[in-house]
Amino acid sequence: MSNIKLDLSYTGVIEKEISRYSQKVEKIYNNLKEISDDKNEFVGWLDLPTNYNKKEFNKIKKMANKIRKDSEVFVVIGIGGSYLGARAVIESLTSNFANMLPNNIRKSPQIFFVGNNISPNYINELIDCIGDKDISINIISKSGTTTEPAIAFRIFREYLESKYGVDEASKRIYVTTDKKKGALKQLADEEQYETFVIPDNIGGRYSVLTPVGLLPIAVAGINIDKLMEGAKNAQENYSDNNIKYNQCFRYAIVRNILYKKDKQIEIFANYEPKLHYFTEWWKQLYGESEGKQHKGVFPVGVDLTTDLHSMGQYIQDGLRNIFETVINIEESKTDIKIKRDEDNIDGLNFLAGKTMDYVNKQAMKGTLEAHVAGGVPNIILNIKELNEQTMGELIYFFELACAISGNILGVNPFDQPGVEEYKTNMFKLLGKPGYKNK
Ligand code: PA5
Repeated sequence: MSNIKLDLSYTGVIEKEISRYSQKVEKIYNNLKEISDDKNEFVGWLDLPTNYNKKEFNKIKKMANKIRKDSEVFVVIGIGGSYLGARAVIESLTSNFANMLPNNIRKSPQIFFVGNNISPNYINELIDCIGDKDISINIISKSGTTTEPAIAFRIFREYLESKYGVDEASKRIYVTTDKKKGALKQLADEEQYETFVIPDNIGGRYSVLTPVGLLPIAVAGINIDKLMEGAKNAQENYSDNNIKYNQCFRYAIVRNILYKKDKQIEIFANYEPKLHYFTEWWKQLYGESEGKQHKGVFPVGVDLTTDLHSMGQYIQDGLRNIFETVINIEESKTDIKIKRDEDNIDGLNFLAGKTMDYVNKQAMKGTLEAHVAGGVPNIILNIKELNEQTMGELIYFFELACAISGNILGVNPFDQPGVEEYKTNMFKLLGKPGYKNK
């Protein structure tokens, strides 16, 4: 049974419009299945929940336990698909203040993400923060040549070697990269770093359930068996070609129908700050997969109710080219009852006895009605609670929906040719050999 319940009743889209896509989507899905074993196609994520490397998976658990024992800080170096998935899952399933909790409560290393920007301040300030704590690092890069993580790795490798000496440092460096190719693989072999393989047929933004995401997630103390179980559940649930029942296909179809109705912007909205990075992961997945050939829905995200006080005006009243996809977590992990106050100076006694989660839910309902009335169609995803299984399901749901949606749009959802443009210009400005005349 699926833990994700899709509610399309606020989209204005009718069943007849959806059913028109039936054959097209069936064909797309069958084609994805057919090419999922092909090592030259980037569809390895499709059956990953039932077809992953068990030996590698066990090694992840073993190494994560070692890191949890010998490190107070774990630095994850990567950018884009090589960090967003791990961060999304870790932040969704751990305390908002995990890195600030005292050791005895946290029970996991502090986890920091670097190599996702080129700010010297960010790294200098992190090194100050690490101080004399014991640290391990995980460099994640499929190509092994991406500038941002490569610079950060050079700095942290030197930092570790001067802190521990070369031998001990090499036992604290974990490399997640291609099986055979790339500078990182070569270095890892030379220095005998522990390595994890990113499968050839899985691209960065679809890689969270490979060692790319799983090692940092396991170091955070999250049960990766359950995460995979959730994804497996989704794989089974969304293999039904009948679009009347396949919620994943329906999401992909409806966002394309809305796009055709001139809703070019999709706002991913959450009411739980833990989901901020899940939104970032979703944005990359859809933005990089669909924004091609001068088309595609532009994915943006809001954290609510926070952003109702900054973006709310625009959503309610600006250009009518937007629709929203709202994640509703039905049961909050914890709650707080609002107490009665004798003086009631803040006038809040009308909420006495109610819980904060109840207030949050009413804010969500009120916002939904206002936005829909204001001409913003809303897709709702109801999830019972945030846990390993539901996160696994959500990841698979959005990956499959993205692949279907990109194909409906008529683009290749697995490449990212546009990302190279800025790199060429940057390398030219920096004088990288071979880029002078490009
Ligand atoms: O989804 C993608 O392919 C990209 O976001 C990459 O993950 C990102 O550019 C990092 O690439 P690499 O893992 O090669 O360092």
